[in-house]
Amino acid sequence: MSKKIGILTSGGDCAGLNAVIRAAVHRSDLLGWEIYGIEDGTYGLLQDPPRYKKLEVSDFDGYVLRRGGTILGTTNKGNPFAYPMPDGSEKDRSGEIIENFKKIGLDAVICIGGDGSFAILRELAQRGGINMVGVPKTIDNDIGCTETSVGFDTAVSVATEALDRLQPTAASHDRVMVLEVMGRDAGHIALTAGIAGGADVILIPEVAYSMEKINKKIKDVMVGGRNFALVVVSEAVKTESGDKYMVEYTDGQKRYGGIGNYIGAKISEGTGAETRVTNLGHVQRGSQPTYNDRLIASAFGVKAVDLIKEGKFDRMVAWKNRAVVDVPIKDAIAAYQEVSMEDSLVHTARALGICLGDN
Ligand code: F6P
Repeated sequence: MSKKIGILTSGGDCAGLNAVIRAAVHRSDLLGWEIYGIEDGTYGLLQDPPRYKKLEVSDFDGYVLRRGGTILGTTNKGNPFAYPMPDGSEKDRSGEIIENFKKIGLDAVICIGGDGSFAILRELAQRGGINMVGVPKTIDNDIGCTETSVGFDTAVSVATEALDRLQPTAASHDRVMVLEVMGRDAGHIALTAGIAGGADVILIPEVAYSMEKINKKIKDVMVGGRNFALVVVSEAVKTESGDKYMVEYTDGQKRYGGIGNYIGAKISEGTGAETRVTNLGHVQRGSQPTYNDRLIASAFGVKAVDLIKEGKFDRMVAWKNRAVVDVPIKDAIAAYQEVSMEDSLVHTARALGICLGDN
């Protein structure tokens, strides 16, 4: 039976989102279904009229698969259950979104998001009786019940390449290079890129560190005859006294940022080494997707449409044991995935002699 389905991207963008959309459009087309792209996530559904467009296979020329960002636009602010109003108050605008969704007349919607977006979108779906399936995306790789999410592989590749670029300049100037990477409260990007990029020290929020141990490691490297060292710091690492490093933007939003400068200054003070700090920031989100992200995104996009075909809703597609599976969205939201101390990459890092701040 022919269907009319929607697709939207929600939360921070990452590489590979367009590959998910493309795959869902191809799969829908094969089934003879119509697919509509909702623009700017829930924000597009708060507009009058709601913002959406029909997607066709012909919209996806050879370039879109390779393109970073999201052709649909996205939003990572404005919780519709407590929407910030111009007078400073908050208003529950969830009803408007549900009403607009119904106006478009969609049978189901594919939501590409992270755990924060899923919590909101699932609540909307439940209140409005909307058939929803989820596709996990986040450079942070912190969504539960899936081994990986769209965007993580690209972010790690960008961070690894940054280390590849920092190493020769560090060696030329006898310097310690500190690289601050994103990841929110999970250290996956730092740990993975740090190992791949040959870091000497990797600091992640899951492991408490001591500056004494970090500085000892840097001194040992230098005494051992190497004239440079590479340090990777995850953005949510705290100061020694337990404070978060945050940036407050003009609109009042707070984001992690700046801990690399703190660690760099402490290394410089404690070792006498000349230190420079690079904060990689949004560069990790913006590049062309790696082949791996394109593959996972394509498999996820197809599977999301297949779930709708099977009438399986409130489910998230996931990657497990080399295959695409589906899991309850609520389980994925509940099982926040930070770096576990049993993670084999933690063992690998330690076995390589990398200092995690506590050894
Ligand atoms: O969740 C993805 C992420 O890139 C985090 O790693 C980072 O802390 C945050 O989003 C940055 O958010 P924004 O794009 O709003 O600055």
